[in-house]
Amino acid sequence: ADKMEDPGKEQGVSNGAVYDEMEAEDNLSPEDLSEMLAAGTKESHEKAENTKFVKDFLRGRIPRELFKLGAVALYFTYTAMEEEIERNRDHPQFAPLYFPAELHRHEALARDLEYFYGGDWKSQISCSPATQRYVKRIHEVGQSDPVLLVAHTYTRYMGDLSGGQVLKKVAQRALKLPPTGEGLCFYEFEGIHSAKAFKQLYRSRMNELDLDELTKERVVAEANLAFTFNMEVFTELEELGKTLPEDVVDGDVPAHGDMQGDIRK
Ligand code: HEM
Repeated sequence: ADKMEDPGKEQGVSNGAVYDEMEAEDNLSPEDLSEMLAAGTKESHEKAENTKFVKDFLRGRIPRELFKLGAVALYFTYTAMEEEIERNRDHPQFAPLYFPAELHRHEALARDLEYFYGGDWKSQISCSPATQRYVKRIHEVGQSDPVLLVAHTYTRYMGDLSGGQVLKKVAQRALKLPPTGEGLCFYEFEGIHSAKAFKQLYRSRMNELDLDELTKERVVAEANLAFTFNMEVFTELEELGKTLPEDVVDGDVPAHGDMQGDIRK
């Protein structure tokens, strides 16, 4: 189903001329930032996949309270990231990756939190310690070393685009959320019709950034740091999960056949 509609026409991407860029995919080279990131974060990715929180989530073992706290963590993370993206939207080392209409999650997360916490959701949420450390680093990067912002957008958005639909189904089933998608806006990229095509575009845009070798290596190191921050948030959630009363933790739903193959992020 993912197969190559003309991604450009299809998506009405908001960021300029787009469609003749896709050929970059066909002749990848190891110096390409997209390849360096994929190879250079492979280990971190495997670690992230193997955290207990992530594995439990994929099995549908995600109590509603923990899912809500996860959404809160994402809300603070994306608020910070998208604030720094806006600050750097014209920065030559970030501008080609500026896709607010397609990617930005702040609004979607606000809607999800309103669904879960009600109209006064803002007064009910707070930023956890692990999330605060992640957010602090995002602001440092955005304000003092914006070329590293790509490491953070790569780690989150590419992951989200890889796993969205699967995670959405898992959460929907585990939390018995309505089929209308309420509470799950985060997983729905309305401006992106083919995640695969968009990821190719994003990779080719990353590869067109004018970065020297050392800078590319710094970006990879920062992406590994971003993975670490994510894992620290997962670990924190997992710890919090242990303190929840038993009856809240019961929402166990058996894993499901359609989970293979396209399980991502
Ligand atoms: C890509 C699986 C968790 C970040 C992918 C892809 C798969 C996958 C199969 C490849 C997509 C493709 O080639 O088009 C999983 C599974 C996870 C998981 C099974 C959990 C059990 C995470 C987490 C993060 C993450 C927690 C970061 C917070 C990424 C990124 C990519 C990606 C950045 C893009 C890699 C690239 O093409 O350079 N994931 N993932 N993933 N995932 Fe995950």
